[in-house]
Amino acid sequence: MRQWSGTGIAYGADYNPEQWPEEVRAEDVALMREAGVTLVSVGIFSWGLLEPEPGRFEFDWLERVLDDLHAAGIGVDLATATASPPAWLSQRWPEVLPVDHEGRRATFGSRQSWCPSSPVYRERSLALVEALAARFGAHPALRLWHISNELGCHNARCYCDVSAAAFRTWLQRRHGDVAALNDAWATAFWSQHYTSFEQVQVPALSTSFPNPAHALDFARFSSEELLGQHLAEQAVLRRVTPDVATTTNFMVSAGQTSMDYGRWARAQDVVSNDHYLVHALPDPRAELAFAADMTRGIAGGPWLLMEHSTSAVNWQPVNVAKAPGEMLRDSLAHVARGADGVMFFQWRASSGGAEQWHSGMVPHAGRDTARFREVVELGAVLRRLADVRGSDVEADVAVLVDYENTWAMEGPTLPSARVGHLDVAHQVHRLLRERQVTADVLAVGAHPDDLAAVLAGYRVVVVPTLYLCDDATAAAVAAAAAAGAQVVVTYLSGVVDERVRVRLGGYPGAFRELLGVRVEEFHPLLAGVGTALDDGSTGEVWSELARADEDVEVLAAYADGAVAGSPALTRRAVPGGGAAWYVGTTLDDEALDGLLQAVCAAGGVVPVAAATGYVDVVRRRDAATGRSWLFALNHGDEVATVDVDGVDAVSGAEVAGTLRLAPGGCAVVAEAPRA
Ligand code: GAL
Repeated sequence: MRQWSGTGIAYGADYNPEQWPEEVRAEDVALMREAGVTLVSVGIFSWGLLEPEPGRFEFDWLERVLDDLHAAGIGVDLATATASPPAWLSQRWPEVLPVDHEGRRATFGSRQSWCPSSPVYRERSLALVEALAARFGAHPALRLWHISNELGCHNARCYCDVSAAAFRTWLQRRHGDVAALNDAWATAFWSQHYTSFEQVQVPALSTSFPNPAHALDFARFSSEELLGQHLAEQAVLRRVTPDVATTTNFMVSAGQTSMDYGRWARAQDVVSNDHYLVHALPDPRAELAFAADMTRGIAGGPWLLMEHSTSAVNWQPVNVAKAPGEMLRDSLAHVARGADGVMFFQWRASSGGAEQWHSGMVPHAGRDTARFREVVELGAVLRRLADVRGSDVEADVAVLVDYENTWAMEGPTLPSARVGHLDVAHQVHRLLRERQVTADVLAVGAHPDDLAAVLAGYRVVVVPTLYLCDDATAAAVAAAAAAGAQVVVTYLSGVVDERVRVRLGGYPGAFRELLGVRVEEFHPLLAGVGTALDDGSTGEVWSELARADEDVEVLAAYADGAVAGSPALTRRAVPGGGAAWYVGTTLDDEALDGLLQAVCAAGGVVPVAAATGYVDVVRRRDAATGRSWLFALNHGDEVATVDVDGVDAVSGAEVAGTLRLAPGGCAVVAEAPRA
């Protein structure tokens, strides 16, 4: 497979020299060298300057930038520059501007203002890619192609007429004929029967609830349209520069679920991700860890952190700056979980434009700042971690997630709006991490053919709220249990198939046999209403009327209300050594932690290292050399301890037996080889 060229852990940022007078570049390059920058992403939003008029390319300025970077030994992740089309495109072809759910067409003046299905956009963007590839494909600074930028960040779903026509073509391909479409969408309901594909519209504003299967197919279509743009750009690059790896920056993070990156991953040479801490979350670092573990799961190995922030962003209600040491700790949190690069948005904080209040590696106040000194320090730490590149992250637990599920659960007509596909996944991941157990977060879409083989490698497999589940996924989960894994399925899983049709005969449909549980009726709970379980714990959000088969051990039953006596937590031994656990409600942290510990004990999963305090502990190991690095990051307010032997690459200190980390402190211990 093609890989980005260069050694060690990549360090750098988006570099937008066009925002500055040309003479600033000498200082930029000098400061990059001081910081140990090795890779910068160039040209991401430069289309307007690279092609000021249709077909007239001005590339000389970019060549001077690449030359200067190369002279300083800095590699370039060169953008195809297609993310933000210039004003002339929508001036001449206004239909390129995307239309929102309520039928409003966007105006020019922000970014990413293009319809993913627009043939005009496709043609003009590919012409630019072709010209850039021809001009810069052999430039010695080129390490990697950066296709577009965060595809779908602002234009994931377009409801214009061009999109509607493309959607109809897509539907025809997917369903074949209109009878199959009617069947798949259950259109006998509410007189939605179609007699021709021409009648099908995009699921924009409607009088009442949309058809869930219609909405789901539109979400699938929209993700595939953007992937289509990615593949079209990639095809040009692979033709012109077959040896240069390509990437596109994903947004695996809280709240961005419009693109099925599981499916997209198969098209990537290098998976890269952008991640920003969301300070409205109760524990932003738990979400960071989840996103990083999910990016690794999608990539199937190491990946590049293409963007994060040195300090504050500019797009949250209050943009919290990073405290001393936080930037290093966050960076290492990504490296611990498989990042082979630490990149930022952006190199030099802009003085104008919508991102003028976003932090950068060089702040507005310049070089003589605490921030820049930390940037230099981070570069030095990453240089000491060069050999970590390419090593694997050790994990015995898999958490299964699925983008299609996030779409299927977007609708307003589910049994409870209080249930989200990823809610329990985050809770499980957070609790395991607090016990120093690492999980791979696997996206179903990344494994169209090999899910069973992949799951077979884990001791514990968690299937949280997998509402929509096809037969192959259910079979792969059952096979993991039969192969000896402890499988944990949580409520509202497996209840509909890939057409969002209810699996009849009792929930949780696809997992009923594996779990030995048959649910007759859901009893979702209102906010603030708990349900007592007979083991003394309390459930929230969900309860249900269920029966367990004879061979199922009921670990806890509902103790009161309409479902009193129904099984809430169960375990069924599976021939072959594994077990299938069922969790029928949202447990509080204490109860879920207890359950997960029991599951881990049954599966032989142990913490990465013994530790005290709120500390992330993750191990990367190089399979070829056997070398390993133990990452330890103290997110708590108290001193944390971790049992480990070796040399800490952050402080340079030798660690014998117990590492002590001050609040906010971090270490990467190159471990002494095992006896
Ligand atoms: C990303 C984007 C960057 C920059 C950054 C700000 O979404 O790719 O261009 O806008 O956010 O946080």
